Amino acid sequence: MKVLLTGGAGFIGSHVAEQLVSHGYEVVIIDNLASSSKTYLPEGIKFYEMDINDFTVESIFKSEKPDIVIHLAAQTSVVHSMKEPYFDFQTNTAATVKLLQYAAENGVRQFVFASSAAVYGEPVYLPIDEHHSVDPQSFYAISKYAAELYITAFGKQHDITPTILRFSNVYGPRQNTSGEAGVVGILILKLLQKENCIIYGGKQTRDFVFVKDVAIACAKAVIENKGGIFNISSNTELAISELYKSVSEKMSIDGEAFFHPYREGELVRSVLSNEKAGKELVWKPNYSISKGLDETIEHYIHRYTGSI
Ligand SMILES: NC(=O)c1ccc[n+]([C@@H]2O[C@H](COP(=O)([O-])OP(=O)(O)OC[C@H]3O[C@@H](n4cnc5c(N)ncnc54)[C@H](O)[C@@H]3O)[C@@H](O)[C@H]2O)c1
Repeated sequence: MKVLLTGGAGFIGSHVAEQLVSHGYEVVIIDNLASSSKTYLPEGIKFYEMDINDFTVESIFKSEKPDIVIHLAAQTSVVHSMKEPYFDFQTNTAATVKLLQYAAENGVRQFVFASSAAVYGEPVYLPIDEHHSVDPQSFYAISKYAAELYITAFGKQHDITPTILRFSNVYGPRQNTSGEAGVVGILILKLLQKENCIIYGGKQTRDFVFVKDVAIACAKAVIENKGGIFNISSNTELAISELYKSVSEKMSIDGEAFFHPYREGELVRSVLSNEKAGKELVWKPNYSISKGLDETIEHYIHRYTGSI
């Protein structure tokens, strides 16, 4: 079985590539290295440095003939999506439609898509399950949700299993700390650099899921060949102030945290049920937040001291 993995050089993608290789899948990656580098690309994987918007992507489908597509490449910044909605739409929605078209024309049997908890918007109840209403608030969330609709429609019209994975807040080794999503990595680096941490609010909760669990979920989705929408989450609510406390205690660094008022539009609570993925993908997260933080801290210490 051959998997075409877009965004495979990135934070989640590089872990997914490793999982797939360990399960014996042949993996081909397309990535334009917009927010990543070749550092974490697993050995021996075919790599095309290419933009998913590029029309030459079609030739990769024709020559590689993948059985499965796992589509992770994206414009991932909510803030950037609000500044450049057309760019966000092009990368996250329009390019996905093009990939779906190539997939349908070239006999791909499953299309797995990385979506986001952001599509739910303000929670009406917790934990949010897959029946929860959808109310995307940012252009990023809209572009992801629009892509979901196309994937489901392609699944109905073609012989393609449409698998949509809605990730909660993913954290772990290799996350890019220059983005807005990597709060865990950012806190660790600030503490290592003995800089002050600024926390907006602090009591707001998020559902942090470890990247290796997410990579296993992607592999399980392929192994089970299951279509549908699945939350991929820890189903655990953690306040940002508690996260900061755990990280600083584990690092034995008593850094100073400055608590500022909440930012406008910030969700107060978020936690996603992972029951459906448990039943249908036979997946559950293995990492507790404590174990996940240990591995993440170790990674950033190595990175900071230049040993990786
Ligand atoms: N990290 C999270 O907490 C989180 C949460 C929900 C959803 N997601 C989704 O998971 C996926 C992976 O995110 P990540 O956190 O690993 O981010 P990332 O930035 O590390 O990975 C994205 C990868 O896609 C590549 N890419 C971006 N634009 C591209 C383009 N036009 N053509 C080809 N490659 C391109 C980047 O170079 C990068 O390697 C994304 O679709 C993201 O929206 C992530």
